[in-house]
Amino acid sequence: MILILIGPPGAGKGTQAKILEQKYNIIQLSTGDMLRAKAKQQDALGVQIRTIMDTGAYMPDDIMIAMIADRIIQPDCKNGFILDGFPRTVPQAEALDAMLANKKLKLEAVIELKVDDEALIERITGRTSCASCGASYHAKFNPPKVASVCDVCGGKEFICRNDDNEENVRARLKTFYHLTSPILPYYEAKKQLYHVDGMVSPSLVTQSILDILDQQRKV
Ligand code: AP5
Repeated sequence: MILILIGPPGAGKGTQAKILEQKYNIIQLSTGDMLRAKAKQQDALGVQIRTIMDTGAYMPDDIMIAMIADRIIQPDCKNGFILDGFPRTVPQAEALDAMLANKKLKLEAVIELKVDDEALIERITGRTSCASCGASYHAKFNPPKVASVCDVCGGKEFICRNDDNEENVRARLKTFYHLTSPILPYYEAKKQLYHVDGMVSPSLVTQSILDILDQQRKV
């Protein structure tokens, strides 16, 4: 199964991708995570990624398309994958279509998570993750069961992303509405787009996605 999750920063793409990954035994491909891993390198690409991420802009399409083209041919993608953060522009969407057609792979659905801007800011500015295993938390909406102890690995150090501040989120939102919103009509025209209310609890969001996928499989 191949799925795309689209939504503004903090919409819950990563949260839902991790749940769907378990449910369908398919892998989450987060371009944000891939870029953050490369950003640690002390080379020209690392510097470029850090500079772009710090301003809330997007990486160039050719770099992102090459990154995904290389990733989806890896053995761990053979059961399918959930794209979290890609495509983000119309040229990326067109390139993905060409890649999938070339490999005779079918895109199951494109799920848009809809969340109000002010809620997004609250979600992003309260987000932390475990420094050891990367499990994601939110101070108010999803705190660890035992205060300051990771539910997954017992780690006690929590970190925040560099770009998780209000100024950067507002810049990311602007970029999203300018460059990513236009891909919604692109997928709407292909009848592949589904909308989900992302303002409800994570489990209700998951249920809406599962309902769409069940329905889709009956057609
Ligand atoms: P990326 O890492 O993809 O960041 P983003 O799109 O800004 O999205 P986030 O990861 O911040 O949010 P999310 O939707 O995954 O929400 P989450 O589930 O964590 O990209 C970062 C940067 O990389 C981009 O700005 C760009 O520069 C670059 N980039 C990446 N891909 C690119 C591409 N294709 N082309 C060009 N550049 C690219 O949830 C957020 C918080 O809310 C969490 O704390 C969570 O616990 C909580 N939460 C989740 N769901 C709910 C809910 N239903 N109710 C209450 N709280 C919730």
